[in-house]
Amino acid sequence: MKVLFITPEVAPLAKSGGLGDVCEALPKVLVDLGVQVDIVIPFYSWIKEKGPTLIKEDIPVSFGWRQLTVDVYQLQLKENIRLFLIARDEFFDRSFIYGTNKGGYFDNGERFAFFAQAVLAAVEALGEKWDIFHCHDWQSALVPVYLKTRYFSHPVISSIKTLLTIHNLGYQGVFPSQIFPTLNLPSHLFSIDGLEFWGQVNFLKGGIIFADFLTTVSPTYAKEIQTQAYGFGLDGVLRVYACKLKGILNGVDYREWNPETDPYIAAHFSKEDLTGKRVCKQDLLQTCGLPLDLMQRPLFGMVTRLVDQKGIDLLLPLIERMMHRGIGLIILGTGEKKYEKALAQMFSSYPYQMYVKIAFNEVLAHKIIAGADIFLMPSRYEACGLTQLYSLKYGTIPIVRNTGGLADTVEDADVEKGTGTGFKFNDYHPDALWQAIKRAVDCFQNKKSVWYNLMQNAMRSDFSWGKSAQAYLEVYRGLI
Ligand code: ADP
Ligand code: GLC
Repeated sequence: MKVLFITPEVAPLAKSGGLGDVCEALPKVLVDLGVQVDIVIPFYSWIKEKGPTLIKEDIPVSFGWRQLTVDVYQLQLKENIRLFLIARDEFFDRSFIYGTNKGGYFDNGERFAFFAQAVLAAVEALGEKWDIFHCHDWQSALVPVYLKTRYFSHPVISSIKTLLTIHNLGYQGVFPSQIFPTLNLPSHLFSIDGLEFWGQVNFLKGGIIFADFLTTVSPTYAKEIQTQAYGFGLDGVLRVYACKLKGILNGVDYREWNPETDPYIAAHFSKEDLTGKRVCKQDLLQTCGLPLDLMQRPLFGMVTRLVDQKGIDLLLPLIERMMHRGIGLIILGTGEKKYEKALAQMFSSYPYQMYVKIAFNEVLAHKIIAGADIFLMPSRYEACGLTQLYSLKYGTIPIVRNTGGLADTVEDADVEKGTGTGFKFNDYHPDALWQAIKRAVDCFQNKKSVWYNLMQNAMRSDFSWGKSAQAYLEVYRGLI
C-alpha cells in the first residue's frame, strides 16, 4: 500500500505545532506496519540548507488565468520515507510557514491553493501511483476537491482515495470570494453545497464534502465538532458527513519524548528512579534565571502557541494570585501580540517567580516539560493535544480543561485514593481553573505520597502510536 501525506508541516523541518509532530511520527509507524509512505510539503526557504535534490523542473500548473510552473525537490528521510518539496519561490521563499505575530501572510489563500494544485501536477508529472492521499488540515483540503472535479476522469489519479485529517477546526482557510477563479473549479461549487461559506470561500469545507473519509485526532473532538459550540460554523456540514468521520487519538513518538533518553535535558530519569527529575527542575530554574528556593515550591510550566484556543485569557487574571501563593511559573510560547505583551508585562512584575520566553525553542520546551512539577493546558478547545501527553511521560502532572483530546487522555485525580493522572476542570472560566490549580497545589504541598502516586500513574500511561497507526491502516484498507 502506498500513501502520500500531503501536509504543510513535518517536524523538525517545518513545525508550528502538533501537526508537524504527527506528520513526522505517524509515517514512521506506518512504515513499520508495511505501508510505503511518502510526504509532500512546500519548499520553505530554510529547507534549502538541507541540500535537497531537484527531481523535476518546470511542471506546468494552471493557476487561475495564469500558466505557472513548479519544481519538485526531494530529500530522503529515515525509514525509507521520501520527502517531496513543492518549490515556487514567490509563494514559499518566506521566513515563516504562515506569517508573523502581526498576522498571517496576505496571500495564504493563493499559497496553499497553489500547493494543492501543484501537488497534483507533480504527481501527474512523476508518473507514480499512490493508493491514498492522506491530506492534513485546510492547507491540503483542496486536493480531494480536485480529485472529484478536474481529475474525475483522469486515467490514474481518479482512482486514488482521499483521507482528510482535521487537526484543528479553528483554522479553515476562509478567503474572500475573489480567490475562487484562481482555484480553477467549476463555478457551481461556489454555492452552499460547495465551498461557499457566508459569501467567502472555505477550503476546509470543500475537503469535508469531497474527501472519501475524514478523521480528527481524538474521539471526543470528533463528537464536539458536530456541535454548535465547537463547530466554528461547520458543525452542520460535519453532521451531514458524520458517517464518514472518525476520531483517532494521536500518539507520542517516545523516541523523541522520553525522560530516559531525552538528549536535551540535564539528567535522565524513570518512574523507578526520579532523582534526575529534581536535577532537571534545578537546571530549568537556572536556565530561566529563577531562584533555587523554588525547588521546594510547585513549579508550573506551559509550552504553547499563544492563541485564543489555548486558554491564556483564563490564566492571565490568575497569575497574581499564583504569585501570592508562592507558585513558580515558566511559559514558553509565540503567537498573538496581545498575549505576548500581556505575559511579558506580568514577567516584568514578578521576575523572581516567573519567566516568560517569547520564542519557538525546542530545547527549552523539553526542559520545561521535564523540569516543571505541573503542566498547564487550560484550552478552550483541544483536538488532541500532545504536550499533555509528553508531560505525563515526564511525571509532570497536567492541569487541563475537560475538552477534546484532553478529556480522552487525562484521568482526573482522586487525592483520597491516589488514582488519576492530572487535574481537570469543566467551565471555561478563571474560577474553575483556579479551583483545579488549588487542588493540585494542595496535593503537591501536603500529600507527598499521593503526588508520588499520581506521578507514577502518569509515567505509566502509554500513548504510543501503535494502536492509532493500526486504526489509520484500517481506514486506508476500508477505502481501498
Ligand atoms: P498545537 O498543535 O495546537 O499547537 P499540541 O499540543 O498538539 O498543540 O502540539 C504542540 C507542539 O508544538 C508540541 O510539540 C510543543 O512542544 C510544540 N511547541 C508549541 N509552542 C512551542 C514553542 N514556543 N517552542 C517549542 N515548541 C513549541
Ligand atoms: C492541532 C491541535 C492539537 C493537536 C495537533 C496535532 O494543532 O490544536 O490539539 O494535537 O493539531 O493533531
